[in-house]
Amino acid sequence: MTDVVTPTAADSGSSATEQFQQRDRARGSATPADTARVDAMATEALEALRAVIRKYQLTYAEYHAVKAWLIKLGEDGEWPLFLDVFIEHEVEKIATEGREGSVGSIEGPYYVENAPELGSAGTPPMREGEPGTPLHFFGQVRTVAGEPVQGAVVDFWQADADGLYSHFAPGIPEWNLRARFTTDAEGNFAIDTVHPSPYEIPIDGATGILLAAAGWHAWRPEHLHIRVSAEGYHTITTQLYFEGSDHVEDDIAMAVKDELILAPTATDDGRGEQVRYDFVLDPA
Ligand code: DHB
Ligand code: FE
Repeated sequence: MTDVVTPTAADSGSSATEQFQQRDRARGSATPADTARVDAMATEALEALRAVIRKYQLTYAEYHAVKAWLIKLGEDGEWPLFLDVFIEHEVEKIATEGREGSVGSIEGPYYVENAPELGSAGTPPMREGEPGTPLHFFGQVRTVAGEPVQGAVVDFWQADADGLYSHFAPGIPEWNLRARFTTDAEGNFAIDTVHPSPYEIPIDGATGILLAAAGWHAWRPEHLHIRVSAEGYHTITTQLYFEGSDHVEDDIAMAVKDELILAPTATDDGRGEQVRYDFVLDPA
């Protein structure tokens, strides 16, 4: 690419922090009122940490390194990235347990509300010659009883071929590869996009220091993000992955589920691929 802007972890990290804080203020999240629950969870979390310290006989040098690293994680604005990669998948599983409809996956740090609305079918905003194989992704939204849901909002976002998300990395047009679709009378939607690329979590900040120190890779498999909402139903926040793609078996964010792996086929003109995926909503 000829882009002269070199995005850094600090860029994506601090915009993820700002974005999170904005939405958190709008949600109005307050200090939890259940003292007994906070007491139990904080006590056990701290004891689990102390157990690791005892087990591995943590040295003062390591203690200082951890302190410095935690400070840097905050300075780099990477808490949203770090938590969404290593922790969110566990929270997501609990939140969606017992649902009969489509399975969810983590939201990640890069969702932005109020993306452009394109009706039931269309192409998300993208640059001229946006890199990536054309991908026609379509499907139906229906209830667990099999009824089509008209007017469901299919909120869609993905990274570009360099693994960068608009609104977070600099130098990418506003709303690039982000759009909202609304299902038609049959519950259908259709999105003309590009096949996503694998995503490398930023490695030039504090998270990268941990990855290097532990010898872990930094990759998430290619994925599309989708959030499906409709009045009277539980919102589904999920991601779709691609069969046989790199890191689909070893996602650093542990957010792949078998039901979410797509196997697109070539389009008749041979220039792109197509895939269907239906979303099934649980009543709220
Ligand atoms: C992260 C990035 C993603 O694109 C995603 O889907 C999940 C997590 C992250 O860097 O934390
Ligand atoms: Fe993502």
